[in-house]
Parts: sequence; structure tokens; C-alpha cells
Amino acid sequence: MKGNRRDFIKKTAIAGAGLALAASPFGRTFAALASDKKVRLAVIGTGSRGRYLMELLLAQKVNPNYELVAVCDNYGPSLNEAVALAKRYKINPKTYTDYSQLINQSPVDGVIIATPLHQHAHITIDCLNKGIHVLCEKAMARTLDDTKAMYDAHINSGSILLIGHQRLHSNQYINALERIHNGEIGVIGQMKAYWHRNHNWRRDVPDNQPDLERKINWRLYKEYSAGLLTELMSHQLQVANWAMKKYPVSVMATGSIQYYKDGREVPDNMAAIFSYDDGTQFIYDSMTINKAEGCEEHIIGDYATMKLESNNILREDPIKPEPAPGIAQLINDIQNGLFKSAPIGGSSWAAETAVSYNGEEIYKGQDGDGTREEIVHFIDYIQQKSSPEWMTKEGYYTSIWSLLTEKSIESGERITCPDKYLIG
Ligand SMILES: NC(=O)c1ccc[n+]([C@@H]2O[C@H](COP(=O)([O-])OP(=O)(O)OC[C@H]3O[C@@H](n4cnc5c(N)ncnc54)[C@H](O)[C@@H]3O)[C@@H](O)[C@H]2O)c1
Repeated sequence: MKGNRRDFIKKTAIAGAGLALAASPFGRTFAALASDKKVRLAVIGTGSRGRYLMELLLAQKVNPNYELVAVCDNYGPSLNEAVALAKRYKINPKTYTDYSQLINQSPVDGVIIATPLHQHAHITIDCLNKGIHVLCEKAMARTLDDTKAMYDAHINSGSILLIGHQRLHSNQYINALERIHNGEIGVIGQMKAYWHRNHNWRRDVPDNQPDLERKINWRLYKEYSAGLLTELMSHQLQVANWAMKKYPVSVMATGSIQYYKDGREVPDNMAAIFSYDDGTQFIYDSMTINKAEGCEEHIIGDYATMKLESNNILREDPIKPEPAPGIAQLINDIQNGLFKSAPIGGSSWAAETAVSYNGEEIYKGQDGDGTREEIVHFIDYIQQKSSPEWMTKEGYYTSIWSLLTEKSIESGERITCPDKYLIG
């Protein structure tokens, strides 16, 4: 197996660049749309993310075969900003403060839900049951039961349910993951990811309205969010599961409010180890006091490591090999007079030296993080009246395992998935 590594690397390096779109799992191009009828869309929750998604839609950077017919938010300033944004694009969607009025009064084919996490489940379920297709922001829901109820509503109604893990739609990630699945990095031995920030994650609350604290800073309170787990880790756990083509069998995690003792209820730092049934581990951590390491996912194989956020592949045996790290260290030691002669086999106590080349770019040409493509695909799926089921499953299990991680932090125990949340 290892003897063929160099040939394999050469072949895959040449083939890799062309893989992404040729074998895209997402199927179709605009030319093949099933219908010319415009898809009628609404956005529910027009806060920071909802307006970003609206902007992508309105700037006509996505499929033009849609119209934005309604927006809804139960907070006046967010709704006003959405209306102002729509006006800039010369459109005048209907406005609602109650989503149930929107779905009962405005004929819509699909909704984009970007409310806080605890408001995802009941809105999604009501929409799906009315035959309205849903793109709901990640993570799916605040509780395990709500996550399962959303999935069941999707299955029972037959309506599309897509969860907002935009990396699933990014050409850069699709390319990298196809190459991983085609064996380019060899056998995955470990995955490592982190999201480090230097920010307290607070948003300003208007001076004279302290009662808005929990509404605006919902991410910091347990009733509404699992904090770093559902808001950040979920993205990277989805990527790890995608790389493995399967889901973890257990998680052990820890977390605490170590730095920002400001009344928040969710950890400001955490670490978790997920195990898969073949013994592979996904090691994850997130913190909010230092961003030196930034955000990264390392998928580590016996041929190479892919660093997905920075779009970089580091081959263990590059085409122009450098001296193996142990040999390099030995030469260095001899030059420094440490040894008179080289001990056979090298020193067992020397720390490994990291590879000293910069690797190669994995993929060229991705613009943005996949969110634009996510919306394009959602509209496309509505027109096709079907979406890839594995993508919904990916969102489902990511949400389930993010919430099980919270249970591990709370109990201090290694957690497995209760049978009632397994969907096969
Ligand atoms: N995919 C990503 O990269 C990404 C990035 C940021 C946020 N998000 C997700 O987007 C969602 C929203 O995050 P945000 O940062 O925009 O939060 P936000 O607080 O800025 O916006 C949420 C909006 O929803 C409104 N809202 C709350 N309950 C509602 C209800 N019942 N009906 C209608 N509107 C309601 C609020 O008034 C607010 O305007 C979250 O699920 C978050 O995880 C995803």
C-alpha cells in the first residue's frame, strides 16, 4: 500500500483540480431547472444572519428564478432594517411580526429561517406541515427532542428541510471532501479542529432597554442556545462527519465559564473528543480569549493532511521530498556537535519536527464560504421538489451530537447516542 504512495499522489494531484464540479453531488445547473415558475420565498428572523441571507438573495447573486415575497421578525428594529434593505433593491415584500400569519396569509413555496436556535423547531415544523420547504439556519434545534421532531416533520410532510451548514455547498469543501473520499490523503487517522476568537461575543443592548439583554444576547443563555457548541462547533463537526461519511459513537467533553464571568450561562471555552466506530477521533476545542490559531479543520491521513479552512494540503511524502524530519534533526544535531557519529535508526527521544514546506492549495476559485451556493441549491431543490436526503441527515446528526456534547460537559461522562435519536 505505502509502496504505491508516490504514484497515487501524482495521479490524484493532477486529477484533483478538476474533480469538484464534474462530480458535484448537487446535481443540476440552472439550464436544467424543472420549471420556469418563480419560487416565492420569505425570510423569518431578519436579524444579523437573516439580513445577510436577504442581501445575497436581493443582490441577484443567486438563482434569479425566485421572488422575495415576505419578511417576518418579532423585533421592530430588525424588521425595519429588513424593509430598508429590500427598498434599496426596489422591492416591497409583505411584512409580518408573527410567522404564523405569514404562512397562513402569504402564499410561499419556501422559507429561510434565521431566528435564534430555540425558535427553530416550532417555526420549521409549522412550515413543513403546511407544505412549505425550509432552509433553517444551523444548528437544528435547542433540544434533542425538538431536533427529532423537526426531522420527523420533514419525513412525514415530504417537504424539503435543509440545514444551514454552508460548507456543504462550498466548491472548495466539495472538492476537498471528494478528494478525501477518493483516498488522496490515505486512511484518516485523526481529525482536529478549533475555532478561537478574541471577543466576548456580546452585542450592545439599547441603553434604556436592559430587558432586551436576553433577546439580543440569546447565544449566552442556556434557554436559547448551547453557545460555542451549537453556534461554532456544529459547523466543524459537520465537516468531520462528512469526511468520515459516518457519525460518532461517543463524545467526551469539558467546558467552563473561565474568563467572561458576566452573567452568561454557556461556557466561554470547551474541548471535546468524538470517537468513531473504527477508532478514529475528532478532537475539537473552542475559546474566546485568543485568536492566534483562528479557525481550522485538519483532516489527517497517512498520506497527507488537509487543512480545510486555509485550503491547504500538506503531503507526508511530497513529490519533491525533503529529508524526513528525524533525519533533518539528526543532521542538525551532528552539525551542532551533539554526536560524533549517527546512531543507527535515529534518536527515539527527539520530538518530531513539523514538515517545513508550505504545502499546496487544494482548490482555486471559491468565492465566499458557500452560503450563496446554499441558497442557490435551496431554490433549485424547491423547483426540483426534492433535495439530497443525506444533507438533511448531516444537519440532523450534527445537531444531535452538538447537544450530546453539552450533556457530556454537564455530566462529566462519556456520552453515546440514545437509540430513540438514531435515524439510520
Ligand atoms: N451559518 C452561519 O454561518 C451562521 C452565522 C451566523 C448566524 N447563524 C444562525 O442564524 C440564526 C440567527 O442568528 P443571528 O446572529 O442573525 O441572530 P440575531 O439575534 O441577530 O437575529 C435573530 C432575529 O430573529 C428574530 N426572532 C426571534 N424570534 C422570532 C420569531 N419567533 N419570529 C420571527 N423573528 C424572530 C429576532 O428578533 C432577531 O431579529 C441562528 O440560528 C444562528 O446560529 C448562522
